[in-house]
Amino acid sequence: MPHPLSAILIGAGNRGQDAYGPYALQHPDELRFVAVAEPDEARRTRFARAHGIPPQGQYRTWEDLLAGGRTADVALVCTLDRLHTEPALAALELGYDVLLEKPMATTLGDCVRLVQTAERTGRLLQICHEMRYTSFFTLLRGIVNSGRLGRVVTVEHRENVSYWHMAHSYVRGNWRDSRVESPMILAKCCHDLDILFWILGPCHRLASFGSLVHYRRENAPAGAPERCTDGCPAAEQCPWYAPRLYLDIVPLLRMTRDSPVLQERLASRIILDHPAMARVAERLVPGFAAARDYRGWPLSVLSEDTSREARLRALQTGPYGRCVYYCDNDVVDHQTVSLEVEDGTSVVLVMHGHSHLEGRTMRYDGTRATLLGSYGALSQEIQIHDHLTGEVETIRPTSGLVGATGHGGADMELMRGFVQAVHDPACALTTARESLESHLLAFAAEEARVTGAVVNMADFRHAAG
Ligand SMILES: NC(=O)c1ccc[n+]([C@@H]2O[C@H](COP(=O)([O-])OP(=O)(O)OC[C@H]3O[C@@H](n4cnc5c(N)ncnc54)[C@H](O)[C@@H]3O)[C@@H](O)[C@H]2O)c1
Repeated sequence: MPHPLSAILIGAGNRGQDAYGPYALQHPDELRFVAVAEPDEARRTRFARAHGIPPQGQYRTWEDLLAGGRTADVALVCTLDRLHTEPALAALELGYDVLLEKPMATTLGDCVRLVQTAERTGRLLQICHEMRYTSFFTLLRGIVNSGRLGRVVTVEHRENVSYWHMAHSYVRGNWRDSRVESPMILAKCCHDLDILFWILGPCHRLASFGSLVHYRRENAPAGAPERCTDGCPAAEQCPWYAPRLYLDIVPLLRMTRDSPVLQERLASRIILDHPAMARVAERLVPGFAAARDYRGWPLSVLSEDTSREARLRALQTGPYGRCVYYCDNDVVDHQTVSLEVEDGTSVVLVMHGHSHLEGRTMRYDGTRATLLGSYGALSQEIQIHDHLTGEVETIRPTSGLVGATGHGGADMELMRGFVQAVHDPACALTTARESLESHLLAFAAEEARVTGAVVNMADFRHAAG
């Protein structure tokens, strides 16, 4: 690398602070943060301290930071969805190369404005589609392109959002209201649509169906109060009971029950299945308590102080302690998109928030072989079933990533890709214009769902400008 890039961070929340910030700490020869804009004082101070940013580099808002003109090479924009457009446009106009969180913006018009501004100013605009940087999807794309499956005829791709992640983000949390942030098909599946476009090419037309069937007032159990912490009579039977998720972290422990890391696997199993033994082990075995003492996402979203007491206070007063049936949510909890690719391949994308486990599953049926894929946080597998020989090849692309954090290490790969692309735009794995395509598909799918129409993508693209 020629010299470390200097960077500014706009929005030191969950993604800015924890997904991308660590890259600069691990690779100071490539990237260093020189300024941060963050209204929350505790978050701002934490980020500034970790990155050695002096007081004159600490700002409350992006407007304050950018008012001083361009002070670094690159800008990372990691604010919430509705606050992407203005800071990203302002940074591009000042001459920054920009890494912008997905979705680019909450309206199609703003997405187009962003792409056009990047192209006019000649600046790099990269959208955080980290799935492109995973070994799993790189491999899957390579297999399809190699012709090993023959001509791919149908694809089924499922985004299985777990019941507790659905409740956290799309019922109680930031992405619950499509009028404020983004419709769920954009917020959650712009990644999936980007991958499908990357592997299969442009879409000719699409239709979509979906609604909010479960997280509604009329489904509340009898006598349930507005908050889980107000003595809910259904607590024992309710999978979404907030203290079970945020204090006892049961769903998170269940996830690590199958962790490839032996110590994690054993600790989770003992805590869940043998609580009395776990209490003894916590006193006697060094490191055992760490499993129960997990403080990362989604707990870190509740409050800056992640102690059990602070989390309980947050449940008693904040959005994450609300009964899932009494929230101000309107986003769907299931949606399918049926796409016809320009070459005639038919694709079904299924997104839903009722899965036991978190992760994507997929099936590609070709004229020569069928590919089955499973892409989860802790395990990833591709199987190829050959029609002629009947042989089955199983590939597990995760092996190098055991213990990696941040989307299985993909957030770090994305940062590496961004830094390289700033030095040499020719190595960029994707462009803002390419990322626009997944957003067009998401907006088209939402229009199709709401109106019941079949959307012709050429017309839709043309209308977007
Ligand atoms: N790439 C992915 O897979 C992925 C995953 C999760 C979230 N996201 C996206 O990342 C973005 C950020 O999500 P998050 O979970 O980190 O949200 P967050 O709320 O934790 O962080 C956003 C931060 O922006 C700050 N902010 C608000 N107004 C500001 C202003 N005027 N100037 C500067 N900062 C300001 C907030 O105080 C907050 O700390 C969202 O758009 C989200 O959709 C992407």
